[in-house]
Amino acid sequence: MPTDASLRVQNTWALVAPISDQVGDLFYANLFRMDPTTKPLFAGNIDLQGRKLVQTLGFIVDHLEDPDRLLPAAQELAVRHVSYGVTRTQYASVGAALVKSLRQLLGTAFSPEDEAAWAEVYGGLSAAMIAAAYPDTSYTKV
Ligand code: HEM
Repeated sequence: MPTDASLRVQNTWALVAPISDQVGDLFYANLFRMDPTTKPLFAGNIDLQGRKLVQTLGFIVDHLEDPDRLLPAAQELAVRHVSYGVTRTQYASVGAALVKSLRQLLGTAFSPEDEAAWAEVYGGLSAAMIAAAYPDTSYTKV
């Protein structure tokens, strides 16, 4: 039985699908403004990176009810991110930039309840990613 938060995330992501090429551009603009420490980490082609991000977010959204597949993939992704120079506190910046981008793209179709659902789902997933990638540091919510 899907949770209310999963359904909200799936429904809002479906609204973004037709304009998914806009998500990456807006997301990185928001991220670099909200947390300038993230900008120097992205050395490669940002359009390509945006497409990878959107594709991976699609995988995550499609597998919210399938944690046996989602969690190992997310944990491996997080471990790879350590070698990109990503720090644990930057996960909160990514979550905030993502939610802001969705709000800007969807306008009133992105309700406060949808926003809370994204925060809940991203918060849970990023906590698991941080725990996998930075096992030496005790987890405090960022
Ligand atoms: C749920 C959260 C995230 C998702 C779904 C995600 C997704 C991805 C994907 C699919 C890649 C391509 C390379 C690979 O698969 O290993 C990537 C690379 C990368 N991500 Fe993330 N990421 C997330 C969180 C973060 C965070 C918190 C940061 C911090 C700034 C970050 C920064 C980067 C960087 C710097 C690269 C390498 C870029 C390059 O090669 O130039 N990501 N990410």
